[in-house]
Amino acid sequence: MSALMPTYARLPVTFTRGEGAVLYDTEGRAYLDGLSGIAVTNLGHAHPAITEAIQQQASQLMHTSNLYRIQPQEDLADALTSITGMERVFFGNSGAEANEAAIKLARMYGHQRGVERPSIVVLESAFHGRTMATLSATGNRKIQAGFEPLVGGFVRAARGDSAAIAAIADNNPDVVAVMVEPIQGEGGVMPLGDEYLRELRTLCDANEWLLIYDEVQSGNGRTGHHFYYLGTDVVPDIVTTAKGLGNGMPIGACMARGKAADVFGPGHHGSTYGGGHLACAAALAVTNTLSGGDLTNRALSLGETVRSAVVAGVADNSVITDLRGQGLMIGIELTRDCTELVGQALGAGLLINVTAGNTIRLLPPLVMSKEQAGELGAGVAALINAFYA
Ligand SMILES: Cc1ncc(COP(=O)(O)O)c(C=O)c1O
Repeated sequence: MSALMPTYARLPVTFTRGEGAVLYDTEGRAYLDGLSGIAVTNLGHAHPAITEAIQQQASQLMHTSNLYRIQPQEDLADALTSITGMERVFFGNSGAEANEAAIKLARMYGHQRGVERPSIVVLESAFHGRTMATLSATGNRKIQAGFEPLVGGFVRAARGDSAAIAAIADNNPDVVAVMVEPIQGEGGVMPLGDEYLRELRTLCDANEWLLIYDEVQSGNGRTGHHFYYLGTDVVPDIVTTAKGLGNGMPIGACMARGKAADVFGPGHHGSTYGGGHLACAAALAVTNTLSGGDLTNRALSLGETVRSAVVAGVADNSVITDLRGQGLMIGIELTRDCTELVGQALGAGLLINVTAGNTIRLLPPLVMSKEQAGELGAGVAALINAFYA
């Protein structure tokens, strides 16, 4: 037993080294990484460009303060805004902090329009983080239980039901924003669907609400575009991201455009570490590496390789009730709870995850070879076969 607070049910393995899509444990055993530290190491482990950027920056300057200008922070904001079409960026250190910034921004936008108790519409089975505001926005009672009183100002709506949100618009003058993950991650890899997202955009426009996309998990190349929405015709007012943005270096970003861009002024928000030299240098290297488009395209083709290998390898495809997601954000829903597969996969040298009880979640690195993608799919199929044997 360690002295750590037991907030995680950890698997019995310790990794000491990684290279691309492979991790090595203390015994030197290799594992194929089908999870990327939950959508973080999108560029794989020990990517040379990221390592070099970190080494170079660490040897030069690690921290000053947001009291001063920080060149790598400005460079990263420029790179992100030119890729996304957003206009302004606030940097924090995690996905939850990026979402806290978005929630604060939406509330302040409401106050500036004379709404005294601004509310944000959030969805069932959403996941937005573990801070008090973001867990209150999250649509999972297990994450909230024991932490009441929750933060107010969130209105919950059923996923995929735009009529329910239209009814909220008719009855609740306090609403100022809608916050969604375009593909819900923790909720079971659930794409909301472009038609529904279009309807949300129309509702937000009609009511002068902000549309907030949480792309903490779907962003940074994983779904075939730098951010999911860049492959669609719906543009949100605010986009949050984290995870893959730093490829392992803690960083989160809240990006805004249009009427959301100039809401914050001096003193409205801040973070000692947010947007620090080291994290921004790493994230700039990640962003530049992804911006060529080769890896984002690769996410789509490797996603197909993984899916086909799963389908080809599973003896009885009726045990798969749904195979969904986009690119390298893949959910394989089975007929029953399959949490035990995570431990069995580890035994087989594969790192996978199960979410929402019955859905195998795969989030492998974009740098994986085609052979490794096939191996991952075949490995998962073998686990499914043994599970139903
Ligand atoms: C969609 C989404 N939003 C927010 C978060 C929270 O991010 P973090 O753990 O970096 O605070 C996560 C983490 O899983 C996520 O998937």
